[in-house]
Amino acid sequence: MKVCIIGASGKLGRYMVGHALDRGYEVVGVCREQSVRKLDRFKDQIVIVPGHTNDRDIIQRAVAGCDGVLVVLVPWGVQQYATGTAQAVLDFAEPGARLVFSCGWHITRDGKDVYSWKLRAFVKVFGGLARLARFADVDDQVEACRRVFGSDTRWTVVRGSDLEEGPSEGLPVWCEHVGDPLIESNRTRRIDFALFMVEALTDDALIHKAPAIVSCRAPSALAYAAATAAPSGKDALS
Ligand SMILES: NC(=O)c1ccc[n+]([C@@H]2O[C@H](COP(=O)([O-])OP(=O)(O)OC[C@H]3O[C@@H](n4cnc5c(N)ncnc54)[C@H](OP(=O)(O)O)[C@@H]3O)[C@@H](O)[C@H]2O)c1
Repeated sequence: MKVCIIGASGKLGRYMVGHALDRGYEVVGVCREQSVRKLDRFKDQIVIVPGHTNDRDIIQRAVAGCDGVLVVLVPWGVQQYATGTAQAVLDFAEPGARLVFSCGWHITRDGKDVYSWKLRAFVKVFGGLARLARFADVDDQVEACRRVFGSDTRWTVVRGSDLEEGPSEGLPVWCEHVGDPLIESNRTRRIDFALFMVEALTDDALIHKAPAIVSCRAPSALAYAAATAAPSGKDALS
């Protein structure tokens, strides 16, 4: 398996590089020129393509021949960075390649997610301030995902909960919608978010899904497991 990791130098990206190499995958990583150093510990094991992730020529070159593409979608700036990144991947990935995109719970695919007032307030306040400061544009990530959801590629959009650092707790559990008690605890280790992204490459049950994930050790996941004796993937089991 040859995998392209777009946004490889970030925290999530570096964890994904590690998981992909652990599986023996050939890895191509795309990151900004000034961040190449962050990948130093992998430099002898992966091919690095320096460049902005919304640069269509860079993406076309990087995804050539890849069976899977892992994309860190980030809405930095106000130049449609996430949308440009997603569109380039959709346009240039090999036909039939598995495409796995990251985002947060705030993205909704079908409008059936139920959000807490806290999350709604955070998105509204942070989103407003970030756009005002021209620091980030939450709507850019929304548009990027809208394009992915509308594409006929073999996509998965992984929606991460709040993240924390620390050793792995195992493959996160997931459900179709935010608001499900399974994921109420709203916390996942970043290393496990990356694990879920890499696992999704070979899990066809996740094609055309937007799983909302939480740590399998989070209290809400443990409570669900105890109540149902289900070890993983609520919707996969029902
Ligand atoms: N943080 C959270 O609590 C959280 C929660 C849920 C979901 N998520 C999702 O998880 C994914 C990773 O997020 P993360 O917070 O963990 O960050 P991260 O993995 O460190 O990724 C940040 C990415 O943004 C790039 N970046 C930073 N500043 C940039 C700029 N000005 N212009 C262009 N690119 C820039 C970084 O590239 P460089 O290495 O070049 O700087 C890196 O690839 C995202 O899809 C996010 O939506 C995050």
